[in-house]
Amino acid sequence: MAKRNLLIFVLLNMILSTVVYAVSIDAKANGALLFGGDRVQELHEIQEDLKMKFKNFEMTMESEVGKLKEKIALLEAKVQDQDNLLQNYKDRQSDSTVSSIDVEDVLERMSLKKTILDPKTCLEARTSDPSLESGMYLIDPDGQGRGDDPIYVYCNMTVGSTSVLHDSEDSIEVSHCFDPGCYSRQIKYNATLRQITMLSELSNVCQQSIQVDCYDAAFEFNRIPYAWWTDRNGESRYFWSGNNNNSSGRYHTCQCGLDGTCKDKSLSCNCDSDLAIELSDVGTLTDKDLLPVTKLNFGRTIAPTSINRHTLGRLECSGKVVLNGMPSSCQDLWRIGYTLSGLYSIKGSTSNKVETVYCDFSKLPGDQELETWIGYTDIKSAPVYFTAKRTSSFGTVGAVLPFEIETLNVGNAFIMSTGVFTAPHNGTYFFAFSGFPENSYSPLYFNLQLNDENIANCYSPISTNCNIPFTGKLSSGDRVQLSLQQGSTANAVFTGWLVAEDIFPF
Ligand SMILES: *[C@@H]1O[C@H](CO)[C@@H](O)[C@H](O)[C@H]1NC(C)=O
Ligand SMILES: *[C@@H]1O[C@H](CO)[C@@H](O)[C@H](O)[C@H]1NC(C)=O
Ligand SMILES: *[C@@H]1O[C@H](CO)[C@@H](O)[C@H](O)[C@H]1NC(C)=O
Ligand SMILES: *[C@@H]1O[C@H](CO)[C@@H](O)[C@H](O)[C@H]1NC(C)=O
Ligand SMILES: *[C@@H]1O[C@H](CO)[C@@H](O)[C@H](O)[C@H]1NC(C)=O
Repeated sequence: MAKRNLLIFVLLNMILSTVVYAVSIDAKANGALLFGGDRVQELHEIQEDLKMKFKNFEMTMESEVGKLKEKIALLEAKVQDQDNLLQNYKDRQSDSTVSSIDVEDVLERMSLKKTILDPKTCLEARTSDPSLESGMYLIDPDGQGRGDDPIYVYCNMTVGSTSVLHDSEDSIEVSHCFDPGCYSRQIKYNATLRQITMLSELSNVCQQSIQVDCYDAAFEFNRIPYAWWTDRNGESRYFWSGNNNNSSGRYHTCQCGLDGTCKDKSLSCNCDSDLAIELSDVGTLTDKDLLPVTKLNFGRTIAPTSINRHTLGRLECSGKVVLNGMPSSCQDLWRIGYTLSGLYSIKGSTSNKVETVYCDFSKLPGDQELETWIGYTDIKSAPVYFTAKRTSSFGTVGAVLPFEIETLNVGNAFIMSTGVFTAPHNGTYFFAFSGFPENSYSPLYFNLQLNDENIANCYSPISTNCNIPFTGKLSSGDRVQLSLQQGSTANAVFTGWLVAEDIFPF
């Protein structure tokens, strides 16, 4: 209110001073002519006029200020509304799993890395963009948007290899202690074990170098192991190079043991020798199902002069696992890049049939629930089935029974005139024969033959049907026929079909 009064006061003063100025100009122009009672009257009129004008002005101002106040109140209400909306939005956002940070993260990746998806391996990154330079990259071996967070790894884009960094890459001296494994160092990788496992599943080769420099600090002494490393499954390992393809329980060797170049030829590691000289064992662990090294243990370093120094390389994976042949599991499908859960046909792992499985790719390889077996898939490249009859007499002993009436012959594998069925595909077939003896006193005897060998028969001495049911495996080109051994028939029916085709030769 004070401000408004001041404003009005200032305005009034301005108006009044303008009037005074105008009057003085008038006075100068008209001179003495307008001096006296007339002049006073005129001034009075002007004053009255001004008072009226000011009143009007004040009223106008009053209404204008009122309108402004209304407008301000309206604006204030609007601002409050906006605030409420904003707060609401923020509340809802912090409730949902997608935080604003994730959105920014995604946007950043979209703009900086060209691709929205993190590659699964460095090789995959290089394949999609061969111009990429070696360096640190985010990759996501277990797949984008599921499993563990992406991992930050070194990509050698020259060779397309992925290296997982850890906290023990420097040369580290083992402290002095006596008991087996008394020195223990956990290796911390900048990636979860699961991501590392997925990386190795996708890679053809994974390896990790390790060097141990030693002085009077044996890995193994008097058959007692003092040093070992722990694999990713938590098992202790005693070999310091190569892979674990030696079935011996506690397989112990170093590279010099594999090469036969150890200082002491009777031992399999340089560091096992108690020669008072500084020695080294340098090796590369190549068993990708065991890597990475998760812990290092050393012992027998109690002597003040003894030295053990370990240098563990990064886990380096390269290449792409290749399937030899057709995929035979959901894991195989995952390896070659399938990520959509659903029903899939795979090569049966224990049969030569096609099997149907449900792959739940939200589960990770190694998880039992990744694959659910549905059943065998009934695949026939071409349907094969026939039914043939004979109603006229046949009694040529030793001959193949020909047929006369073809009810069905899909696939044209059966030739009526010769009575020979020729298997068009490898697979399992079913046959059934039924013949009735023409003479009740003469028995009927038939052999079912596969490539002229008897595989089943029937014999009916009195007035009963001679029946042969048969189910068996046939190879493409195999011949099946009925050979009369005894008696005669004028009423026979022969039927057969391909039950399941063998898709994969064994
Ligand atoms: C470890 O990985 C995270 C991302 O997963 C990254 O931000 C961090 O810089 C990495 N640390 C090292 C030492 O590489
Ligand atoms: C990439 O790997 C190759 C072979 O191991 C090596 O010779 C090369 O120096 C590496 N390059 C970079 C940039 O790491
Ligand atoms: C063990 O692996 C090495 C390669 O590291 C290979 O030369 C050797 O033949 C393998 N031995 C057996 C028994 O598989
Ligand atoms: C396994 O290793 C032992 C030594 O630890 C060695 O004597 C044996 O010959 C090795 N066997 C094979 C098949 O490599
Ligand atoms: C059929 O099976 C045989 C072995 O019984 C095999 O040698 C042959 O390759 C298979 N043929 C086809 C077409 O699969």
